[in-house]
Amino acid sequence: MVESLEDSNECSVKFVFYLKMSEEEQLLTNPYKRKKYKLLWYSPVLLLLLAVTILVPMFSFSVSLPLLGRWFWFSSSPEFSFMVVGDWGREGHHHQKRVASAMAVLARYVKPRFIISTGDNFYEDGVASARDKQWNISFENVYSYRMLENIPWYAVLGNHDHLGNYTAQVDYSNKSERWNMPRPFFSIPVNSYFGEQYLFVFLDTTPFIKDSYGEVARKNGKQSWRLQLSWLEKLLNSSSSRRIFVIGHHNMYSSSIAGERGREELRILLKPILDKYSSRITAYVSGHEHSLQHLQPYGVSGIDHFISGGGSKTDNLKDPPKDAEQYWYDCCKVLPFGVQDKDKPRSLFRASTHGFFIFKVYGNEIVAEAYSQKAKLLYQYHKSLR
Ligand SMILES: *[C@@H]1O[C@H](CO)[C@@H](O)[C@H](O)[C@H]1NC(C)=O
Ligand SMILES: *[C@@H]1O[C@H](CO)[C@@H](O)[C@H](O)[C@H]1NC(C)=O
Ligand SMILES: *[C@@H]1O[C@H](CO)[C@@H](O)[C@H](O)[C@H]1NC(C)=O
Ligand SMILES: *[C@@H]1O[C@H](CO)[C@@H](O)[C@H](O)[C@H]1NC(C)=O
Repeated sequence: MVESLEDSNECSVKFVFYLKMSEEEQLLTNPYKRKKYKLLWYSPVLLLLLAVTILVPMFSFSVSLPLLGRWFWFSSSPEFSFMVVGDWGREGHHHQKRVASAMAVLARYVKPRFIISTGDNFYEDGVASARDKQWNISFENVYSYRMLENIPWYAVLGNHDHLGNYTAQVDYSNKSERWNMPRPFFSIPVNSYFGEQYLFVFLDTTPFIKDSYGEVARKNGKQSWRLQLSWLEKLLNSSSSRRIFVIGHHNMYSSSIAGERGREELRILLKPILDKYSSRITAYVSGHEHSLQHLQPYGVSGIDHFISGGGSKTDNLKDPPKDAEQYWYDCCKVLPFGVQDKDKPRSLFRASTHGFFIFKVYGNEIVAEAYSQKAKLLYQYHKSLR
């Protein structure tokens, strides 16, 4: 024991001599301090090694600092995450309150940066003004859990919102700490921790739709779908973001024949623009049908379609008759849920359940998760990002 101590003394004494003569005595009588100096002795070597492991790959493979950051960060925690809920405002009834409590339970763990509403925020006829009691009964007092208190909402309008005073939903943004709808259609850039810019585009899809709800929306000139499309085209053209999420109330596709099988108007008018920028558009996220769904339709390479419309009441899902599958495919270019054909696009997930989606954004992938009103994970999908 004593011998080995002596051995190490010799080495460190030399070093100490080199460093600082005046501390020699103190060092000899304090083995702990000696150890510290020994670490110092090796540390330049370690630092050099570390620098080499960082700098060599940086220069030889032109690895960026953010990417390096990711290596050290590991993929254990997302850069940011967000929740998506739709078709909810029913004074807390029809499981709205239950879904809200599940959102609060998960918010504790997931810490979403924001919550997106896919529209039909207030049933049946939207709100009458920014002072409508619905704001309290169907929104503030329902999503009132402490874990949800400080999370901003970004909302789009649904067809039911257009039956009321839609400008009141814009105006409420200034009255509320968390409600955000700066205009009926708008976009927000979101920067990740490592400097990647994500773009969230919020559309007002009701003016595109040819039924009575659409008529109300179309009466307002400013809400013209033509104006919106040229705005969208300009936005996508000028944006340099490689990760774009497009949000609108109406779904383009569906795996259920109970509803409208997705809106054809959007497939005709909106889809061509999204297709043009499909390499940069990660997902089209909607509500309208009261279920949770994930579809990968034909011709929209790279764009996944999610339906998050389970904020309160749910719709039953209905399959086409067996002999109508081809008809279904011809109509909507997506095979019904459960039908597999390797060359054809598919419906990957659907659930007629009260619930919502959580999206977790990592450096090179997103994870989409569907949750029930009991905070139970129903579905998880990983998508690699370029
Ligand atoms: C719509 O709501 C806004 C904001 O509360 C209000 O100023 C406006 O008068 C309302 N419009 C109608 C037609 O009630
Ligand atoms: C909503 O509730 C808050 C707090 O109780 C109250 O101050 C506000 O006036 C209410 N708003 C409406 C529109 O009823
Ligand atoms: C909120 O208030 C600011 C300042 O008064 C105003 O410029 C802005 O247009 C308002 N926004 C909305 C959505 O009403
Ligand atoms: C953006 O618009 C310009 C001018 O119209 C066009 O030349 C360019 O190709 C567009 N960029 C993309 C990515 O579409």
